[in-house]
Amino acid sequence: MNNVKICPCPTEAVTYVAAIEKATFSDPWSEDSLLGMTDSVFYHLLCATEDGEVCGYLAASSVAGENEILRIAVSDSHRRRGIGASLLDSFIKERAEEGDSEFFLEVRASNAPAIGLYTSRGFEVCGKRANYYRCPTEDAVLMRCSVSPMTDE
Ligand SMILES: CC(C)(COP(=O)(O)OP(=O)(O)OC[C@H]1O[C@@H](n2cnc3c(N)ncnc32)[C@H](O)[C@@H]1OP(=O)(O)O)[C@@H](O)C(=O)NCCC(=O)NCCS
Repeated sequence: MNNVKICPCPTEAVTYVAAIEKATFSDPWSEDSLLGMTDSVFYHLLCATEDGEVCGYLAASSVAGENEILRIAVSDSHRRRGIGASLLDSFIKERAEEGDSEFFLEVRASNAPAIGLYTSRGFEVCGKRANYYRCPTEDAVLMRCSVSPMTDE
């Protein structure tokens, strides 16, 4: 983890994020969609780099103080080294410093690594959407995390 850095994804790194996205998900977002997130008030795209190589990313939306984690992925060869946790912690800290306190997400019920990650960062199950996902059809587990805003007042 020593050489891992988390930062807002620069436009020139989006192509590497898109490659991880494509290798990870059955319904990958296009490079253009990801690019649009780098220049948006509502969307956030953070990337993790190790020695300059993009090895993970987090995509989220923020509307009216409520944040939704939309995607998080770490390349196969970099997993289980705390990078997913660092991405999530960085995003939550960044938003809490802006005064936000609520974080939500949906995850496939069978995705034990992701549920393990979210639980380890303080998310709790708050609901279920039956048959929400396709290819394959699967329930979504809804998770929520509340933190104290970190604004100086
Ligand atoms: C989920 C994912 C992002 C986790 O990233 P990661 O960098 O490997 O996670 P971390 O090393 O930060 O793990 C933090 C904690 O999460 C949990 N966790 C991570 N991987 C796990 C696994 N395979 N099984 C069980 N728990 C796991 C553990 O509690 C872990 O802490 P520990 O290593 O001290 O036990 C990664 O597995 C991934 O990219 N998966 C494919 C994409 C995906 O499913 N994304 C979520 C839906 S958008």
